Amino acid sequence: MIDQKTLALAVTESAAKLKALFGDAPAVAVVLGSGWAGAASLVEDAQHLSYAELSAFPQPRVEGHVNEIVVGHISSKTGRQRVVMLRGRAHTYETGDCSGMAGALRTLKRWGVKVLLQTNASGSLRANMAPGSLMLISDHINAPQRSPLVGEPGSERFVDMSHAYDAELRTHAQKVAKDLNLMLGEGVYCWALGPQFETPAEIRMFAAWGADAVGMSTVPETILARHAGLRVMGLALMTNMAAGLSAEALTHALTLQQAQMSGERASRFLAAVVAGMADLPSLRA
Ligand code: HPA
Repeated sequence: MIDQKTLALAVTESAAKLKALFGDAPAVAVVLGSGWAGAASLVEDAQHLSYAELSAFPQPRVEGHVNEIVVGHISSKTGRQRVVMLRGRAHTYETGDCSGMAGALRTLKRWGVKVLLQTNASGSLRANMAPGSLMLISDHINAPQRSPLVGEPGSERFVDMSHAYDAELRTHAQKVAKDLNLMLGEGVYCWALGPQFETPAEIRMFAAWGADAVGMSTVPETILARHAGLRVMGLALMTNMAAGLSAEALTHALTLQQAQMSGERASRFLAAVVAGMADLPSLRA
């Protein structure tokens, strides 16, 4: 974990670099999780920059992730929107530190980004949400009760999480899904620290708590983004039924395989959601 002062300097430096290279910030940033990587290839006039060039960004090392940002435009029938995509995130299970994305998200905010659209791969807790289904995150459960804001100074650290997932953006995503005739479930995402998968008993407990999907990311970034003043939206791709809910053994290879199978449809939906944001009055410059 780096100290606040070093991080603040890195954020200032990284945001200045982004501004110098790419001009004004796009309104929308997308974090591409497992299964969503294909969306990066839908970016037009794409410009790439490695995280290694941005001192505030993490250098994660998980199979299936590339560590770079992609800046460009996303077009679909719903419109055309400038975007920055983050390929690769720091996971808490890599280091034990859940604030690994703090510098990256604060850099985006400093640059001028308004919306953070998070994507991930999840296990489904709902029989009617089979592998391959998409779920719009309506709320989350921080099961490990870890916070990336521990050690932050000031009263802003007491972030209101009652409307963490932006209502207007959720309505927008549902409208896009309806227009595309795509089934979009909506539900509660539960963060599990990992890297081991959950036990069936843990999954029964999460279900009793009201969780609909479980995964090893997203929640720390949502907390960091809300603290930074970014609006948040989350899309989860179900890659498997959660532990105990199907006969299949849970492996990373299985989740990657299912992510690949559904990834193209997920990415096209993501593109339509992003492109349609151009029409949201609250995002117009
Ligand atoms: N549990 C936790 N994380 C996951 C899962 C799961 O079942 N599937 C994909 N990511």
